[in-house]
Amino acid sequence: WLGVAGLVLLGYLLGSIPFGLWLVRAVRGVDIRRYGSGNIGTTNVLRVAGPRLAAAVLLADAAKGALPVMLARAVGPGEVAAVLAGVAAMAGHSWSIWLAGHGGKGVATGLGVLLGLDVRVALAAFAVWLAVVAASRYSSLGSMAAAVSVPLWMALWHAPPAHLAFGVTAALVVLVRHRSNVGRLLRGEELPITLRIDPRR
Ligand code: G3P
Repeated sequence: WLGVAGLVLLGYLLGSIPFGLWLVRAVRGVDIRRYGSGNIGTTNVLRVAGPRLAAAVLLADAAKGALPVMLARAVGPGEVAAVLAGVAAMAGHSWSIWLAGHGGKGVATGLGVLLGLDVRVALAAFAVWLAVVAASRYSSLGSMAAAVSVPLWMALWHAPPAHLAFGVTAALVVLVRHRSNVGRLLRGEELPITLRIDPRR
């Protein structure tokens, strides 16, 4: 159990690293939280700082999810430990120790966890995100649809119970973190992923 607790702590601390905030601040000298949706994730980095930084943030945020899962697998305490470490990484990203409990929406980090747990489900969920965003231009809508699809794909492919538990928990985290997006979508005020914001203006 000490090993599992260590993995969970490591997952939380890794997940807490706000790459979007720190990278955009380091490279562009602006606080991403003051622009667009105010989120520190890939979508808002794309709006404010362009595709290269967005790709870097996507990779870094996904790695925060994949690494604790891979580590749990490598040290071998079982699939439950891998799932707990992954949930901890998502929680760290969403309620970061560096941001006084604030944070991102868990999508890229959740994708990273899924890549570690089951590549098929990760790819299927990404395909759902892509299809919904292509049709709507709303990343938030794609993220919520993809998150809800995760436990469904898992059930379809007879995933182990620990994975299903992750799928349901991750979907709930993503939905809870998108509350402000749901409000904007209902009011017809959601920001499309294609919006470009110049923070110097
Ligand atoms: O992954 C976050 C995305 O689903 C929504 O981002 O900036 O439109 O709130 P944003």
